[in-house]
Amino acid sequence: MIRAINITKSYGDLHVLTGVNLEVNKGEIVSIVGASGAGKSTLLHILGTLDKADLGSVTFGEQKLEDLSEKELARFRNLHIGFIFQFHHLLPEFDAVENICMPALIARRSHKEARMRAEELLEILGLSDRRSHKPNELSGGEQQRVAVARALMNSPDIILADEPSGNLDSANAKDLYDLFFQLRDQFQHTFLVVTHNEEFANMADRKLTMKDGMILG
Ligand SMILES: Nc1ncnc2c1ncn2[C@@H]1O[C@H](COP(=O)(O)OP(=O)(O)O)[C@@H](O)[C@H]1O
Ligand SMILES: [Mg+2]
Repeated sequence: MIRAINITKSYGDLHVLTGVNLEVNKGEIVSIVGASGAGKSTLLHILGTLDKADLGSVTFGEQKLEDLSEKELARFRNLHIGFIFQFHHLLPEFDAVENICMPALIARRSHKEARMRAEELLEILGLSDRRSHKPNELSGGEQQRVAVARALMNSPDIILADEPSGNLDSANAKDLYDLFFQLRDQFQHTFLVVTHNEEFANMADRKLTMKDGMILG
């Protein structure tokens, strides 16, 4: 599904990633743990086409990212990659349905088609009665579930999550991670999740540990 080979990245003298190799298969849930500053977010940004490696290559299926122009990358990202961050980054002036529809509208799918998919996702995520609420009218757990729905809108190949439970209490964190497993079991969705939540990290199919810009063992 996704393969990264020898990913290397420096900021000036700071060697943030020093040759990361990584493969994630379809339907897999992989966790990444490691101290602050280990390079986890940088790696996720590079895999997610939000940043470029100095060296190395990232391949999705047969598609090498380095072969794509900036414009093609933006389209690729929109269609193939879902993001969930620590803070939900929902647009405050739009309600849940509108936020969830956003990736589909960017992909120029019709409003009608986007709405139908959004309703389906609201149902799956148990948010149907929150469809017309704006982010500030939702609890932290609900906000993050809306962000999950938005990430799933275009049925991406992989969902990249960067400390998605970092802003949630332990009960909501558990609900969020249970949801990831449910989405994998039901729909074969694929997750790569940076987390400080040890319990989830250990439940994942594989747990990777990053240290000093490398993935250990
Ligand atoms: N845009 C940037 N410019 C300079 N340094 C950066 C930049 N992004 C990250 N860094 C540095 O790279 C290191 C790794 O950061 P990051 O990938 O965010 O680590 P983690 O997510 O594991 O905490 C840190 O020392 C951080 O300060
Ligand atoms: Mg980080």
